[in-house]
Amino acid sequence: MPEYFGREDESDDSDFYIQPRLVVHIDDVAIAAVGNVFRSLIPPDSVVLDLMSSWRSHWPADHPRSRLAGLGMNDVEMAENPDLDDYIIQDINKNPVLPYEDNTFDAVVITVSVQYLIRPIEVFSEVNRILKPGGIFIVTFSNRMFPTKAVRIWRYSTDRRHIDLVAAYLEEAGDFDEIRGGFTNPETSPPGDPLFAVVANKATD
Ligand SMILES: C[S@@+](CC[C@H](N)C(=O)[O-])C[C@H]1O[C@@H](n2cnc3c(N)ncnc32)[C@H](O)[C@@H]1O
Repeated sequence: MPEYFGREDESDDSDFYIQPRLVVHIDDVAIAAVGNVFRSLIPPDSVVLDLMSSWRSHWPADHPRSRLAGLGMNDVEMAENPDLDDYIIQDINKNPVLPYEDNTFDAVVITVSVQYLIRPIEVFSEVNRILKPGGIFIVTFSNRMFPTKAVRIWRYSTDRRHIDLVAAYLEEAGDFDEIRGGFTNPETSPPGDPLFAVVANKATD
């Protein structure tokens, strides 16, 4: 239902993201948890897309990759990102068609941003298209957000339901296997920021 994907601030996303925000959105322990998820699930020397990217990708320094591409809204933020090899500016709420060839990436990640997607199933199906067969899609999130830009279904839901919601996006997008998710840092949160991950692999047949 469209109202579930309505937002308090329905103005153009490019207005909101025109101002660079060179800040981190989760604490250091949650950032380390993101890096641990990448290290444990993305094979070394992978071709990776950081979708909804900013000035930090939280890529673990000790984990080699062959390319890290970024797609986000703000040029200054992505130009400052020391991990990105290349980047593209695109509003995927306006145009969810991702500007990459089929079967390009070994891994695609969306970090602490999935709550801003108003067309998540279209975006997730595009992620599936650009992943190589067997490639991994990693969606991580915490309990913080820019509330006026988050979709209502996210704002008025709980952490546990967010895991189910992201899993439902993957199911609906189709052609993903081994959808799984959970709480990655229960030993430090609270009081620290929680970090949840939902992951799946592109089907191989
Ligand atoms: C909370 S920040 C997270 C940035 C980064 N992934 C991180 O881990 O710090 C949200 C990001 O989502 C991106 N974003 C929000 N709406 C978007 C849209 N409509 N299209 C593409 N990217 C979007 C913005 O560029 C912004 O950098």
